[in-house]
Amino acid sequence: MTAYKSGDPTTLNRLYGRAKGKPLRAGQQALVDNLLPQIAVPAEGPVTAERLFGEDCPLHFEIGFGGGEHLANRADMLPGHGFIGAEPFLNGVAQALLHVSGDNGAHPPIPNVRIHHGDALEVLSRIPDGTLSFLYLLHPDPWPKARHAKRRMMNDGPVDMFAAKLKPGGEFRFGTDHAVYLRHALMVMQRHTDQFEWLCDKPGDFQSRPGGWPETRYEAKARNVYGHEVWYFRYRRK
Ligand SMILES: C[S@@+](CC[C@H](N)C(=O)[O-])C[C@H]1O[C@@H](n2cnc3c(N)ncnc32)[C@H](O)[C@@H]1O
Repeated sequence: MTAYKSGDPTTLNRLYGRAKGKPLRAGQQALVDNLLPQIAVPAEGPVTAERLFGEDCPLHFEIGFGGGEHLANRADMLPGHGFIGAEPFLNGVAQALLHVSGDNGAHPPIPNVRIHHGDALEVLSRIPDGTLSFLYLLHPDPWPKARHAKRRMMNDGPVDMFAAKLKPGGEFRFGTDHAVYLRHALMVMQRHTDQFEWLCDKPGDFQSRPGGWPETRYEAKARNVYGHEVWYFRYRRK
């Protein structure tokens, strides 16, 4: 198994996707220019609840939040908790800012969200070990070709880092609609049973959405447009 080296994300590079899509509309650009600097994760130094939220609250981290629906929904559900999301795709960041902003000022902004425009593992490496309560990896890029399997976020190096950052009893949530990724992920997690316990009460658990797990845009499309099944996994850090 690849050893997790604290503070050494270079061995954990998983930044392969696209960084930018269509040009941003004026309103989106305004959010990136004005709101993002106010709620951005500091570029350097430790990433702690005290530093980001001013108190020792439960900390949640979402890897690759896409359009930010899940991040904003969860933060709205749990106002006393701090949420950090990382996403390298600028159009996704702009979309998430819209959710956080309370529909562009129509409602008060969601106060307990911080966003990093970039690589999740870089930020994760700066979170002190054993301090995360929840970690979310929802519909990671599948990289379906076998020769690209090392690019998948779910691999031994990142999973060791997930284990290091979660507190004992903390929860790692993983969702996918991709059968190749599912098989790969289950094989990886099978190598980490010393760190994670699969929270599963009955055989079909992973086929139905657990409570407190808002749907993402990607998931809705997978289900409604492509007719895919979606699989949900919850693991407790031992
Ligand atoms: C298939 S999309 C799913 C997005 C979202 N989780 C959802 O369910 O709607 C995968 C996302 O992971 C992001 N991603 C890829 N590599 C990443 C990395 N190293 N750090 C953070 N996000 C990453 C991509 O930019 C993309 O938005």
